[in-house]
Amino acid sequence: MKRASVVTYGCQMNVNESAKIKKIFEDLGYEIIEDIHQSDIIFLNTCTVREGAATQIFGKIGELKTIKEKRGTIIGITGCFAQEQGNEIIKKFPIIDIVMGNQNIGCIPEIIKKLNNKRNEHIVCTENENILPDHIDADFGDESGACVAITYGCNNFCTYCIVPYVRGRERSVPMDQILVDVRKYVNKGHKEITLLGQNVNSYGNDFKNGDNFAKLLSEICAIEEDFLIRFISPHPRDFTDEVIDVMRKNEKISRSIHLPLQSGSSKILKLMNRGYTKEDYLFLANKIKEKINGASLTTDIIVGFPQETEEDFMDTLDIVKQVRFENSFMFMYSKRNGTKAAIMDGQIEDSIKKERLQRLIEVQNQCSLENSQKYINKIVRVLVEGESKKNKKMFTGRTSTNKVVLFEGSKEIEGKFVNVRIGSCKTWTLYGEIV
Ligand code: SAH
Ligand code: SF4
Ligand code: F3S
Repeated sequence: MKRASVVTYGCQMNVNESAKIKKIFEDLGYEIIEDIHQSDIIFLNTCTVREGAATQIFGKIGELKTIKEKRGTIIGITGCFAQEQGNEIIKKFPIIDIVMGNQNIGCIPEIIKKLNNKRNEHIVCTENENILPDHIDADFGDESGACVAITYGCNNFCTYCIVPYVRGRERSVPMDQILVDVRKYVNKGHKEITLLGQNVNSYGNDFKNGDNFAKLLSEICAIEEDFLIRFISPHPRDFTDEVIDVMRKNEKISRSIHLPLQSGSSKILKLMNRGYTKEDYLFLANKIKEKINGASLTTDIIVGFPQETEEDFMDTLDIVKQVRFENSFMFMYSKRNGTKAAIMDGQIEDSIKKERLQRLIEVQNQCSLENSQKYINKIVRVLVEGESKKNKKMFTGRTSTNKVVLFEGSKEIEGKFVNVRIGSCKTWTLYGEIV
């Protein structure tokens, strides 16, 4: 039996698409393995959102060279970095046999056939052919959660971001199809369904039949069975009252809401083309917390965007202190070729970006710790994920607010909901006992 492995970089969308790629290979008769040294075909599913992502991939390709020399392994590259680079990547790295855009993974079977007939020929397929993999049934194995892509691409063109260039225009998956998929995964026993999209709450804007994100959420909530619905990521500008209302009424929807802020300065937000001000964001965050019982917010923040002054950065710190995010993904601005921000005046020096990131992390860590402390002596409902990697006696799971909880348990509780009384905490982790 031939063996294939898929190495994934980047966001949840890539993780989801890798699951689909694996399923395609399985259907072609391959065994999926983790160890790339034993594989007959290796696919890298890549990211290019920040410079670091690309650097990491160059390192990996170096490693693949020796594997290929030993075993004659077929090397394929897909994902956003492959989409961005196209032909160029083969010029740089002739060891790569297949370059395939993230919108073309549906044509893997055809390409493998071609390659078997004509070895020694590079195959490039990065055109916007739109062979989307939305019909492919990803296999999420025994994991408690499954992901369903509800939109592909993005129309927002935030000025720092390369995603709209590599993932193309936004296309929503028809609601019927999403509902069929969610039902299927829930019936398979998955207890957590994550809806994926670059901007989930603009879902349906391309339909003109009235289907929108609020309606989708309420239809999914109507599916019987006990499961949790998450979604990443909503855009603050598109977070309607209708969505807040559906969330308020349906406990099935996770209380952890990832609401990317990017900057706390209205001036920088405008330069970023985010479509909201500092005040708009604060108003929305407060409304969500007021209306949705138990809501907790996490966010993404960029420091050192062009023209960000100390005062602008203080606005970011101020908003973090006011909203007191449960957690933040914090990044230094990274220049992406072809984006508007890359050619803006007033690029910020790395040393200033680093210093601002450090200060932001300190403020955020304090907020995370305070948030964790609020759980002490409370009983929380936890979806059990499995044994803790560090300590086999301990099990790990997450609350509806997405907090990681560690507790003693046994195999039977895996993939189920349990109630845990929290005894102690660290910055991001809660410790407790099942009650
Ligand atoms: N579509 C999602 C996220 C896409 S990328 C959303 O809008 O929320 C994930 C995060 O990476 C972004 O939220 C942003 O904070 C960060 N990011 C994107 N481009 C970046 C860049 N050029 N430099 C630094 N961070 C960036
Ligand atoms: Fe990028 Fe903005 Fe689209 Fe998110 S919403 S993918 S940050 S352009
Ligand atoms: Fe990276 Fe593409 Fe996701 S650039 S963050 S893998 S959408």
